[in-house]
Amino acid sequence: MDLLLRGKVAVISGASQGLGRATAHLLAQEGARVALLSRSREKLEDARRDILAQTGQEDDAVQIHPLDVRDKAAVEQAIQTIRAHFGGIDILLANAGGPPAGTFETITDEQYEDAFQTLFMGTVRLIRAVLPSMRTRGGGRIGIITSQSVKAPMPGLLLSNAIRAGVTGLARTLANEVAKDGILINCFAPGRVDTERTRTLDAGIAEREGLSVEAVKARMSGEIPLGRYGTPEEFARVAAFYLSFANTYVTGQTILIDGGKVGTLW
Ligand SMILES: NC(=O)c1ccc[n+]([C@@H]2O[C@H](COP(=O)([O-])OP(=O)(O)OC[C@H]3O[C@@H](n4cnc5c(N)ncnc54)[C@H](OP(=O)(O)O)[C@@H]3O)[C@@H](O)[C@H]2O)c1
Repeated sequence: MDLLLRGKVAVISGASQGLGRATAHLLAQEGARVALLSRSREKLEDARRDILAQTGQEDDAVQIHPLDVRDKAAVEQAIQTIRAHFGGIDILLANAGGPPAGTFETITDEQYEDAFQTLFMGTVRLIRAVLPSMRTRGGGRIGIITSQSVKAPMPGLLLSNAIRAGVTGLARTLANEVAKDGILINCFAPGRVDTERTRTLDAGIAEREGLSVEAVKARMSGEIPLGRYGTPEEFARVAAFYLSFANTYVTGQTILIDGGKVGTLW
């Protein structure tokens, strides 16, 4: 199947590692020109080098923009620059780092505010910035990385459970508002995919429970019907389809990429 990505322009935030980077890589491999956003210039340069070396993309088809998605002006400026460089934007993957673990008793007002700015307002501002270009081009595809926690809230991850539920409501509402413009929006909800984020969470659980990280990973894997963590590439293959122009009829959905872990019917 042709994903119809050749020549399309994709903006990916949280693109310097993990799920964002793997998805950017695959989109580039499928012929999209990509703009990579995240805070660390060094990690972005590394991602860019990798993509150029492995996908055969032209030098100017992969841009990097070091920024923090909490910085409204920086997001607007980067999107303007990307639009000017590539002539427009077709695809956005909105993504950033997960919030710290914690319970109602431990989470501070500052942590609520920070998670809201990073996950919710970061997404709002990215989408707001790309919509005009997508409308001009007659359509677009938007993806937002959330979490399995939007289907089944996870113990000890109150911030993720709370804020991502809001992001899901935002996406579901906006999908209907922009459908008439040919813009499709879906959320991607990973379960346990082997990235830096998962390794940090597992290390935290191991420390709290006095277990080895391997023991935590074995227990977590046992709760997944497919019996293992996913890989960033497995995540990327799913995301790339819904972000592609081969997807013409799925919008407003949350796609679980969790090896079968979450047992809900919807
Ligand atoms: N991996 C999983 O199984 C899983 C499961 C459920 C939910 N999730 C969520 O899915 C998202 C991606 O997961 P991941 O595993 O790829 O995480 P990750 O390995 O921690 O990567 C997060 C990415 O976001 C960037 N980032 C963090 N804060 C940012 C900010 N304020 N502004 C701009 N970029 C920022 C990081 O790069 P810089 O440091 O360069 O900014 C990095 O590129 C996270 O929100 C995570 O919580 C992941």
